[in-house]
Amino acid sequence: MKGLILSGGKGTRMRPITHTAAKQLLPVANKPILFYAIEAIKAAGIYELGIIISPETGQDIKHIVGNGERWGMQITYLLQHEPLGLAHAVKTARDFLGDAPFVMYLGDNLIKDGVAPLVDRFKAGQADALILLKEVTNPSAFGVAQLNGNGRILCLEEKPAKPKSNLALVGVYLFNKNIHKAIDEIKPSKRGELEITDAIQQLIDTNFHVDSHVLHSWWLDTGKKDDMLEANRVVLDEMTDVSMDGGIDEHTRISGRVHIGKGTTLKHCSIRGPAVIGENCSLEYSYVGPFTSIGNGARVSHAEIEHSILREHCRIIDFHGRIEDSLIGVNVELTRSQLKPVAYRLMLGDDSKVEVV
Ligand code: DAU
Repeated sequence: MKGLILSGGKGTRMRPITHTAAKQLLPVANKPILFYAIEAIKAAGIYELGIIISPETGQDIKHIVGNGERWGMQITYLLQHEPLGLAHAVKTARDFLGDAPFVMYLGDNLIKDGVAPLVDRFKAGQADALILLKEVTNPSAFGVAQLNGNGRILCLEEKPAKPKSNLALVGVYLFNKNIHKAIDEIKPSKRGELEITDAIQQLIDTNFHVDSHVLHSWWLDTGKKDDMLEANRVVLDEMTDVSMDGGIDEHTRISGRVHIGKGTTLKHCSIRGPAVIGENCSLEYSYVGPFTSIGNGARVSHAEIEHSILREHCRIIDFHGRIEDSLIGVNVELTRSQLKPVAYRLMLGDDSKVEVV
């Protein structure tokens, strides 16, 4: 069995953050989303992993992920020149996959229970494909499956305007070699993509056996800012331990589950978990509230931060204000020279969003 992670695409829904970074490298609880996918595949006993990358962000992904040695895996990078669809990505990986069965995992998805039980079920059974489904409240945003009374899939549709059920396709799929022929037989959809949902429908229509499993634990598709914050909330909420590697002065109060990295100093702060603060950060006269992740090398003074992700090397200096529900990119500087600002001085990249509340 091989693994295939899709980490190409353009990430347009996460701009401006993804102007400079691959969305799959955005951190959840200070770890790139993509690492959760790699670890899930490794936990299923799969060691040969292909990662689909795009020309825009592929180099960054290679640089940060490496050759797989740190996980004891062998990683092959597969360049997809354009994001022409999930089934096109499988086509791109054709030589790497050969005739092996494989688990395909969308690199911006997070699943609580990983994929090991599904891989075992697929290996032991006779199905040609196994897809994961989850009940959602907004099915139009996803691929949607309609089942009959016995749990058999009747049909699949990609982002339908009028969904026939509330069962969304989760971004994890298991296939054997028969998927390749199905992909060869489908045409691009109205949005110009080779859809994996159409390829699976093709398997169903030609009497191949497509099995499904409905997930009851959490699954998160981190496509947009609020999804990222929700993923960060859910992962931090599951954190069970406390670790304090930094230097903490006697005026600092820490409560709840908190991780503080090496070389970090806290002075006159109040930290309420669950929260993670990376390495070599400096925080002074600040409050960090639940569900916050602060990346390595950040500096924060006179600020309150809650339910937010601050990336590496952010500088929030003498802010005297509250930051909540925010996603702040690498190396951002946020300062405030007066307690009651009468004017804002801003330098913002294309597509930035600022909410002054
Ligand atoms: O998250 C689950 C949903 O994922 C499913 O319900 C949908 O059926 C499925 O089409 C997919 O929809 P998304 O709109 O979320 O797909 P997105 O374009 O965000 O791509 C998912 C991942 O695959 C992302 O990490 C980028 C990567 N990708 C995407 C395309 C279109 C590629 O590597 N190559 C591609 O050509």
